[in-house]
Amino acid sequence: MKAFILRQTGGAEQLKLEELAKPAIQPGEVLVKAQAIAINPIDVFVRKDSNALKAFLQPADGQDTFILGWDLAGIIEEVGADVKDFKKGDAVFGMVNFRGAGNVYAEYVAAPADQLALKPEHTSFEEAAAACLAALTAWQALVTHANLQQGQKILIHAAAGGVGHYAVQIAKHLGAHVIGTGSAANKDFILSLGADEYIDYKQQQFEQLVNDADVVLDPIYGDHLLRSIDATKKGGRIISLLMDFTGAIGEKAKAKDIKGYHMGVSSNGKDMRQIASLMATGALRSHINTSYSFTDLPKAHQQQEAGNSHGKIVVKL
Ligand SMILES: NC(=O)c1ccc[n+]([C@@H]2O[C@H](COP(=O)([O-])OP(=O)(O)OC[C@H]3O[C@@H](n4cnc5c(N)ncnc54)[C@H](OP(=O)(O)O)[C@@H]3O)[C@@H](O)[C@H]2O)c1
Repeated sequence: MKAFILRQTGGAEQLKLEELAKPAIQPGEVLVKAQAIAINPIDVFVRKDSNALKAFLQPADGQDTFILGWDLAGIIEEVGADVKDFKKGDAVFGMVNFRGAGNVYAEYVAAPADQLALKPEHTSFEEAAAACLAALTAWQALVTHANLQQGQKILIHAAAGGVGHYAVQIAKHLGAHVIGTGSAANKDFILSLGADEYIDYKQQQFEQLVNDADVVLDPIYGDHLLRSIDATKKGGRIISLLMDFTGAIGEKAKAKDIKGYHMGVSSNGKDMRQIASLMATGALRSHINTSYSFTDLPKAHQQQEAGNSHGKIVVKL
C-alpha cells in the first residue's frame, strides 16, 4: 500500500509517499480501506515539532518513521477476532487512537472497532472523515464537559473553524442560544450554521458585548481565556481547548465560581455514533472547504498551516 511517511519533523515536504506492507490487525481491530482523510491543526503541529510528535504519537523507543493522521472514513476489508459490531464491506468513520498513533495517512489503516461508527448512508466519505476529531471535540466539549442545556446561552469562539462549525450546529440541536465569533468574511457562514448572533472579533471586543454566557467554548491562545471569563456569567462553565485554568486564569475563574475545563479530545465510538445519528437526520453537516487528492496531501497540510478560515480540509483516496 501507499502511505505518507515522516522521518524528520519540518515542512510539508517532509511527508513522503512510499510503498509499505498493509498493517496487520490485532484482536478488536478492523482493517479499513481508506476513502477519505481529514486534516486538523494538530497534524501540522506534530509534523513540525518533535516534542509535539512525541507527546501526541507516543512512539516506541527508537522508532524513527511515523505515519501521521487520525481522521478516517473508509470500507472495512478485514475483521479481527472479537469484533462483533462490524462486518466486511461496512462503511465506517472515526478518530483512530487519539492520543497515540492513528497511522491514517495510508491506503489501509488498522483501527480499533470500538472507536468507529457506521457512516450514514447519505453522508459522503469526505463529509464523514471531516466529522471525526473536530466533531468529537465539539461533542465532548458541549455534551460531556459543559452539559449544555436547552435555553442556555453559549459563546462559541472561532465558530467558522473545524471545531466551531460543528459546535454551532450541536449547540443549536441542543436548543441553546448561540453566539459565534469569527472574522467578517465568515459572518454569513456562521449565521448559516444556525448561530443566533455573530461577533466580528477583529472589530469588537466580545466581552463588551457578552457578560452572561452559561457556557463558553474557547480554542484561542493568549489572554483570550481571561477575557472569556468576563463573558461568562457567575457559576457558568468554560471549555478551553488550549489553555489550563492555572495562575491568574484559575483565580479569576474561581472568583466568579466558574467551572473551567481544559479538555483533550479522545477516541470514542459511542460519541462517534451520536455524531453519525445527527448527520443521518441532517442536524449536523460537514462543510468541506477544500478536498485534495491523496498525492496532494502535503498541499492540504500547507493550507491548514496557512490558517484554515472555515470548515474542514479533507483528502480523498
Ligand atoms: N484540546 C483539544 O482536544 C482540541 C481539539 C481540537 C482542536 N483543538 C485546537 O483548537 C483550535 C481550533 O481548531 P480547529 O480545528 O477549529 O481549527 P481551524 O479549522 O484551523 O479553524 C480556526 C478558526 O479560528 C478562527 N479564528 C482565529 N483566531 C480567532 C479569534 N481570535 N477569534 C475567533 N475566531 C478566530 C479562524 O477564522 P477567521 O479568523 O478567518 O474567522 C478559523 O475559522 C486549534 O488550535 C486546535 O489545535 C484542540
